[in-house]
Amino acid sequence: MTEIFKGMKPSRRAFLRGAAAGAGALAVGGAAKAQGAPDPAITELQPWMQGLGAGVDAAPYGTPSPYEAHVVRRNVEWLTADTVSSVNFTPLHELDGILTPNGLCFERHHAGVAEVDPAKHRIMINGLVDTPLVFTMADLMRFPRENHVYFLECAANSGMEWAGAQLNGCQFTHGMIHNVMYTGVPLRLLLEEAGVKTNGKWVMPEGADAAAMTRSIPIEKAMDDCLVAFKMNGEMLRPEQGYPVRLVVPGWEGNMWVKWLRRIEVGDEPWHHREETSKYTDLFENGKARRFTWEMDAKSVITSPSPQAPILHGRGHTVVTGVAWSGRGTIPRVDVTIDGGKTWHQARMSGPSLEKSMHRFYYEFDWDGSPLLLQSRAHDSTGYVQPTKNELRAIRGENSIYHNNGIQTWYVNERGEAENVEIS
Ligand code: MTE
Ligand code: CO
Repeated sequence: MTEIFKGMKPSRRAFLRGAAAGAGALAVGGAAKAQGAPDPAITELQPWMQGLGAGVDAAPYGTPSPYEAHVVRRNVEWLTADTVSSVNFTPLHELDGILTPNGLCFERHHAGVAEVDPAKHRIMINGLVDTPLVFTMADLMRFPRENHVYFLECAANSGMEWAGAQLNGCQFTHGMIHNVMYTGVPLRLLLEEAGVKTNGKWVMPEGADAAAMTRSIPIEKAMDDCLVAFKMNGEMLRPEQGYPVRLVVPGWEGNMWVKWLRRIEVGDEPWHHREETSKYTDLFENGKARRFTWEMDAKSVITSPSPQAPILHGRGHTVVTGVAWSGRGTIPRVDVTIDGGKTWHQARMSGPSLEKSMHRFYYEFDWDGSPLLLQSRAHDSTGYVQPTKNELRAIRGENSIYHNNGIQTWYVNERGEAENVEIS
């Protein structure tokens, strides 16, 4: 045993011993097995040790190991009667750190993925401007560009959970989010180039897809941190994410991040289009609807353990991890409970803490094998604390679809299997 752990820090050695001892009859890792039958993973030559591997020409564009084939975007069947106007979900339970790999970013299209030829794509700025302008992609790329990591969350993320615990997995309950580094030109620079007239108070981005997605955005936001982005995580946008260009509206609901961006109109009042009247509004109990709820409130979710990521190692040292984000700033703190909120523990934040980006947290504890009620609760840099689902329902009533940022609960049984539940 000392041989195996040579070179490791004493604290880690102690905890591995502790885990093996505490595990009793459960098989826990190599430490217990090292004294029993030989482990063929050590004693036998594996196929990959006995021959040459693939050459550098095998995969000009790399893909994940075949052993990771389960790490994919997934649909919810009853939400996907039609795959063109539909949604799939990011496999949050398989990811770590804060960046979402491009091929795993959830997709939400109202009219399918437009296949745009960048050479034939134009971006127009018109309306209340001194000089209406049209840019090619090459024109766009001659403006000073910036890089920022931002989350995009669909306003309908967790929308199915308003009625109670429904979907079994954080991929489905919380997977309408991705977190990407964008490269793009500040929208402000393009608007300044065109010259916004003094009565220009709103902008309306429009998509080149058949949905011709349009939303009204106040000029203050357009001039603040919006980006006309063409790259994600270093490479050109994926077709699903709006290739060759999309609007990035940091911290605000995903619907406003118009993909396949072709036009930005400047106006003196909002346009009151479909996506800001019949959709993306919150109907209250008294029949009144809340409109223009653009900012995404602070939210968090434990990604592992979770229904798709059960505890497989038995009792002992257990890593709880998850993500938190806020449309209003950073996440200085996340609390985790394993007993349904009787006691809260401050989680360890890890990795960069960026404005309007996902943050990663961890909470490690010794699991005694008894059932758990796992929850996380985000605090954002404005002092706002993530509410419970019932606190939200008390204010918003039962009609809501959008902006559900309530605390999520996972019940973990003695076998480590997790389930989506609600506790009152
Ligand atoms: N832009 C266009 N042109 N067409 C669309 O259907 N869907 C919107 C938004 N922008 C949409 C669009 C919605 S509702 C969301 S949540 C985000 O794009 C989803 O972005 P994603 O597909 O990159 O995840
Ligand atoms: Co959406």
